[in-house]
Amino acid sequence: MPQRPHQERSSRPPTRAARARSFDAVAAQYAASRPGYPPELFDAIEERAGRSLKGARVLDVGAGTGIATALLAARGAQVTAVEPGAGMAAQLRADLPATPLVRATGDALPFSDAAAFDLVCYAQAWHWTNPARSVPEAMRVLRPGGALALWWNIPHRETGWAVDQDARLARRLPGYDRHRVTDDPDTLFRRHGLRPAFRAVDWIRPVPLDTHLAMLGSHSQFAVLAPVTAASVLEDERAALLDVFPGGIVQEEYGVDLTVTLRPAGSS
Ligand SMILES: C[S@@+](CC[C@H](N)C(=O)[O-])C[C@H]1O[C@@H](n2cnc3c(N)ncnc32)[C@H](O)[C@@H]1O
Repeated sequence: MPQRPHQERSSRPPTRAARARSFDAVAAQYAASRPGYPPELFDAIEERAGRSLKGARVLDVGAGTGIATALLAARGAQVTAVEPGAGMAAQLRADLPATPLVRATGDALPFSDAAAFDLVCYAQAWHWTNPARSVPEAMRVLRPGGALALWWNIPHRETGWAVDQDARLARRLPGYDRHRVTDDPDTLFRRHGLRPAFRAVDWIRPVPLDTHLAMLGSHSQFAVLAPVTAASVLEDERAALLDVFPGGIVQEEYGVDLTVTLRPAGSS
């Protein structure tokens, strides 16, 4: 059973490596509370990739507990999951026992140059990789003309309650970064001679307050905290949100930020 890493001093921001590993300790909570992705996201991937997901050979990297893996498979894709974390991988095996799963990171994909995947996906996971390695690795295992798709569910922070929540969490959580993602993908991919395309897909998830709090608690910024510290912040959130959503259903608003870039068709 993976151990939850305790942060001894709550004033010190957790290291990036500690956050990348933190999900293993909250894998079941992650699987039960994190949002999925709307059908329009997969429509947009198909459009940009120039092919249907049905029958496509897909690598889902940083697959976690398999939230995106299951949705890709439901569209008819033949998905192989790649996940470095022991706890997350165990949860994926339990939830999706028929899915091939490889324990690895996106920085060193254990597939040959001839793997020729149609699509390599990163759902909420690209920012944990080292792009100097993960970009060439993705291009290497794709077939020429194949697509690399990265996406993140970014909570909309314009709504009043979400602005207030951000301010509260920024006061309480060391290094709180408002779901900031990694390098600007446009600059990153153009540096590699690639031509990315972008799409934002808005959607709303109405969820019970308990699910919303469990979702917050499954983020790496909570998962690295001592449990007593995390529980105290979440209980304060519960009280604040009940003022806004007295019926106990939170309207989570998301924009999925999607980037798709193709391996040049003529490349070998
Ligand atoms: C926020 S979770 C995303 C899980 C899943 N894709 C989803 O949509 O919910 C990030 C995942 O990336 C994994 N991860 C951490 N470092 C990684 C790396 N260098 N390459 C690939 N995945 C990594 C973590 O173990 C974790 O399971």
